[in-house]
Amino acid sequence: MSEPKKISSIGVLTSGGDSPGMNAAIRAVVRTGLYHGIEMYGITRGYAGMIDDDIQKMESRSVANIIQRGGTILKTARCKEFYEKEGREKAYANLKKRGINGLVIIGGDGSFKGALKFSQDFDIPCIGLPGTIDKDIAGTDFTIGFDTAVNTAVEAIDKIRDTADAHDRLFVIEVMGRDAGYIALHSGIATGAEHILIPERKTDIEGVVASLLEKEKRRKLVNMIVVAEGDGFGGAEEVSKVVKSRLPNADVRVCILGHIQRGGSPTCLDRLIASRMGYHAVESLLEGRYNVMVGIQNNKILYTPLEKAVKAKQKIGEQWMRIIKILAS
Ligand code: ADP
Ligand code: F6P
Repeated sequence: MSEPKKISSIGVLTSGGDSPGMNAAIRAVVRTGLYHGIEMYGITRGYAGMIDDDIQKMESRSVANIIQRGGTILKTARCKEFYEKEGREKAYANLKKRGINGLVIIGGDGSFKGALKFSQDFDIPCIGLPGTIDKDIAGTDFTIGFDTAVNTAVEAIDKIRDTADAHDRLFVIEVMGRDAGYIALHSGIATGAEHILIPERKTDIEGVVASLLEKEKRRKLVNMIVVAEGDGFGGAEEVSKVVKSRLPNADVRVCILGHIQRGGSPTCLDRLIASRMGYHAVESLLEGRYNVMVGIQNNKILYTPLEKAVKAKQKIGEQWMRIIKILAS
């Protein structure tokens, strides 16, 4: 831990893909800062707003009535200019003129990479809060938004199963996760999917076909295949093409859940972890613990240096794959 700098003014922003619970985190950051007598600023549209000087002072009332809302009141963006030193210089000038000398960044690993660069360029204390539905960040058991997203997926897949069962159909359901299979893994297990295809494992399409043919023989016609969008085989559309051609008698349908998984009112768990992480983000800045991501592991707050947080990914253990295989037989 460094010698604590005098933090008098903190900016908070949301960046990258939004996730349910970001508002709860903003609320916690703002109210904890105000409690300590710190000036609080909301930066709109992530790093883009920092460059464009879209920065507003926040009071306690600014974050009233948002804990239950999905999306982010600060809006979010992806910002090309921030990859360049010139962009970051503009952003820093806008912070400096207001006296903002601490930052809380709520986002995914891309946003943390930006924060790391920024803190290295200008020696400004930054704290990252893991806000992503993908749950693909190491150093934390939870990311803000994952629980809501996965429950949305579960609710949808349960509904699909009802109609699949009524018609004896095989459904290939695509869930979000360009680089990460956590939504597919958790929602697939929780809905009793026969197959779960994720980016972290090479899709064994022949294995899937063989297993479906064997099930067809024993007249098990209702089957659910949950595919992460980035599974490596081409998502639900490509998987369904192969399944249709190799099982001509199967009644195959595709359902892509899409961005519905990113919206909606956050679950209790997401509100809780967002509130807890938001509180600790400010406390950590004040204690002189900078350039770390706040995570929760084994129900304890864990601080991971941003350098490490941007490199390490959560791994999906082999045991999960075994569980899927045994339970879906
Ligand atoms: P996420 O935070 O959800 O992973 P992105 O990967 O889109 O989202 O990153 C969000 C933003 O963070 C980018 O649009 C960019 O402004 C900033 N960023 C990401 N990587 C870097 C980097 N290497 N250098 C500077 N800024 C970065
Ligand atoms: O938030 C993460 C994520 O949902 C990925 O799983 C997905 O591929 C990506 O965002 C899509 O984001 P967008 O549609 O905003 O580009």
